[in-house]
Amino acid sequence: ALGASAATEMPPLPEVTGDKVEAEGNFNIKFSIGTTKSGAQYRGLEYFEKIVEQRSGGDIQVELFPGAQLGDDLQATSALQAGTLEMTMPSTSPLVNMFPKFAVFDLPFLFPKPEMADAVLDGEIGQQMLEDASSKGLVAIGWGENGYRQLTNSQRPVDSPDDLEGLKIRTMQNELHMDIWRTLGANPTPMSFAELFTALEQGVVDGQENPWITIKSSKFNEVQDYATETNHVYTPFITLVSKRFWDRLPEEYQQLLRDAATKMGNYQRDVSRTLNDQIKQDLKDSGMQITELTDEQIKVFQNKLEPVYKNWRDEIGGELIDQIRTKV
Ligand code: PAF
Repeated sequence: ALGASAATEMPPLPEVTGDKVEAEGNFNIKFSIGTTKSGAQYRGLEYFEKIVEQRSGGDIQVELFPGAQLGDDLQATSALQAGTLEMTMPSTSPLVNMFPKFAVFDLPFLFPKPEMADAVLDGEIGQQMLEDASSKGLVAIGWGENGYRQLTNSQRPVDSPDDLEGLKIRTMQNELHMDIWRTLGANPTPMSFAELFTALEQGVVDGQENPWITIKSSKFNEVQDYATETNHVYTPFITLVSKRFWDRLPEEYQQLLRDAATKMGNYQRDVSRTLNDQIKQDLKDSGMQITELTDEQIKVFQNKLEPVYKNWRDEIGGELIDQIRTKV
């Protein structure tokens, strides 16, 4: 058994700036996320809560529900549509059936550096995607960072696709992710994040992939001995509000939520990037065997994944992929 890893020390929450927003009414926001209380996403939510509560003079109260306790990313998004939950912040990947263009973020190795993802999300493409996702009972008000995904497994060190042969890897409920792992020779199994720890513990699946911070905050290192720093996909978070709730808010409060979502997204990116290396080290210290791939080893994965680009180009739109590549 592996040792426990140290608690992650979070950077302090920034001070809230900006005047009090004057508007009529009292509102409660239940805000649900899949990751746990010790992750960077939750830290971002705490900042959002602080901004919204202070600047509304307490007239908007925000209650945070981490760890998929109100449902996983897909279930929480459906609850927003039904009007039974006010806010959530899923990864874009499980929402691809609703918003097909989001699949672009699932293409392997499309964003070699985080600043390139920022340029896309904060630029015209990202703004257009937020507008497009403001439909189907949802209002999309900002981006956040889930981050670069890394592979973990219980069976063996993985430093080439050959090592993946036959490994059962849990993926998000997303066909492009399944295509990636199938193409690499593994056996992909889509599964809700809420069921993942138990599935890893009981050996229903051998491995999974998520950013270091989620691997640690979900304690996957306690049931996975091996990890590989693949950085194979950069996953954004998207901040969503229930349209039914949104329409009840005065315009001033709508603007407050938009401002707070932007600040939360920027802060959360900072937290996630500041903690990334330290968390990788904590995982090593806890006994996890982490393989860091050389550029040549990464190239082997990239070459093997070329068919995935061909399979998905038409579906996602070649123009969008090319547009993103010019930023990269
Ligand atoms: O692996 C997933 O399902 C997602 O990365 C997570 C952790 C739920 C965050 O959206």
